[in-house]
Amino acid sequence: MKGVILAGGTGTRLIPLTLVTNKHLLPVYDHPMIYYPIGSLTRSGIRDIIIVTGKDHGGSFMNLLGSGKEFGARFHYALQDNAGGIAEALSLVEEFTHGESMTVILGDNVFFDNIEEEVNSFKHGSRLFLKEVPSPQRFGVPVFENGSIIGVEEKPQIPKSPFAVTGLYIYDRTVFDKIRALKPSSRGELEITDVNNMYIKQGEMTYSILREPWLDAGTFDSLLEASNTVKKLGLKPLI
Ligand code: G1P
Repeated sequence: MKGVILAGGTGTRLIPLTLVTNKHLLPVYDHPMIYYPIGSLTRSGIRDIIIVTGKDHGGSFMNLLGSGKEFGARFHYALQDNAGGIAEALSLVEEFTHGESMTVILGDNVFFDNIEEEVNSFKHGSRLFLKEVPSPQRFGVPVFENGSIIGVEEKPQIPKSPFAVTGLYIYDRTVFDKIRALKPSSRGELEITDVNNMYIKQGEMTYSILREPWLDAGTFDSLLEASNTVKKLGLKPLI
């Protein structure tokens, strides 16, 4: 199992904080945001991790994180020339994964669950991680029938369930063929939700429900909330 952290994007929702740096280098309480997804992967036993980011701040990630030795991991880096969406960023790691399955985390998502069991037992298809939230319309939202997910709707006005599809996914190697078949969405990006719907259509999607707090730190309010939650609960990114 390989690890993939998607840490690109332009961070427009956090301007001016992101004018001269990348969103994932900003602090969540007492650590840079990127430490949290690193911890989620290393906690579940994943050692080979690739960080995909934009070319403007790629050097800062290398300066901060180095080879990964200090984190008990091996870090690799890939550069995305233009911000073309989550699925486009993921397409860049095909060679790195070398036919293996991968656990993918969006760099601005902060998780504290241990997903070692899901990682170790994964065979094929894909797995989503869901969390019940007060405002699901801000996220991808799963639609259920008889306990199975029959579709994911991206930011629906009227959510069909109280869950968010969080930015943590396990995919097999077929994810790259699915990305190749994608067409850009109305916002001009290759959407990860479209990839997930392809797996669902093939009957190749499973899911887990997260027990621990989950925070998406991509807006001013959620970034503040993430810092406050980490401080209040005494959470540490790397253990
Ligand atoms: C992305 C995904 C969405 C998911 C969210 C989790 O949204 O498209 O399905 O629920 O991440 O953070 P974005 O943050 O790009 O709007």
